[in-house]
Amino acid sequence: MNRLQGKIALITGGASGLGAQIARRFTEEGATVVINDLRAEDAEAMTSELGGESIGVGFDVSDSAAVEAGFKEVAERFGRLDVLVNNAGIGLDQPEEDRLERERRTFQQVAEIQAGGPIETFVDVTMHLSDERWRRMLAIHLDGTFFCTREALKIMAPQMSGNIISMGSIMGTAGGAGSPHYCAAKAGILGLTRSLARELVPRNIRVNAIAPGFIDTPMTAPIGGAKALIEAATPMRRFGVPDDIAWAAVYLASEEANFMTGQVLSPNGGYHMSQ
Ligand SMILES: NC(=O)c1ccc[n+]([C@@H]2O[C@H](COP(=O)([O-])OP(=O)(O)OC[C@H]3O[C@@H](n4cnc5c(N)ncnc54)[C@H](O)[C@@H]3O)[C@@H](O)[C@H]2O)c1
Repeated sequence: MNRLQGKIALITGGASGLGAQIARRFTEEGATVVINDLRAEDAEAMTSELGGESIGVGFDVSDSAAVEAGFKEVAERFGRLDVLVNNAGIGLDQPEEDRLERERRTFQQVAEIQAGGPIETFVDVTMHLSDERWRRMLAIHLDGTFFCTREALKIMAPQMSGNIISMGSIMGTAGGAGSPHYCAAKAGILGLTRSLARELVPRNIRVNAIAPGFIDTPMTAPIGGAKALIEAATPMRRFGVPDDIAWAAVYLASEEANFMTGQVLSPNGGYHMSQ
């Protein structure tokens, strides 16, 4: 308790899943949390749940002008910003029929591998991926992380302190068949984190990333039948819960992590053991 007493923290995509749970734990630890989300009404609902001085700022993290305006609002309201969590993101961005067809092919391919024969079923994604889907994924995850970080630094640099945590994924290092745009965006976030960490040490600003494994949230609900395959490939044989990530965020934001910068924490049940 009280590990974040008096801190002002902004969490992007904070109205759902991991962001919402991080917001709850930060609040319990004494922080005042600003909830950003694309869905402004859900951000407001979250602030009501959190209580205290929590406010919602609805903007799209991939829109640089909107991000700038949102951070100005935060600066005017609180006059400082101690923690930024770059969490907003999207997962499987394909129509349900495409998802089901991909799932069917994945199971078929697994059966062919288990039978010891040649692979005759292919899960081709990249050759059909549109410019629009590629750019949208990079815009929300990678541009969004950069835009929010840039605006946060305008507040943190003069105060000579701050803490930035960005949400990567095991997909950024382990890769994931059929998610080239998601994996590229998450790998980019890890590179950005390391560069920022080195640049910002003299400003007393720490920058780290969390690379979650598969966690039960609204984002992973569409995984559907493939969940069993992922659980079978996870030494702990389960998906994580949002608290598995929220506690990692509390640690990185707290003084307990004072010697941590440029690092990647990866709660993932053993699915991937190298970051
Ligand atoms: N759930 C997992 O298994 C998992 C694993 C690894 C990484 N992650 C990452 O963790 C983060 C949170 O994922 P989650 O599982 O909580 O998902 P979620 O769908 O439950 O929540 C994501 C939130 O981000 C918001 N959002 C989406 N686009 C936005 C935008 N352009 N601007 C502002 N807000 C936007 C959504 O409205 C939503 O409230 C994402 O970056 C995701 O890639 C999740």
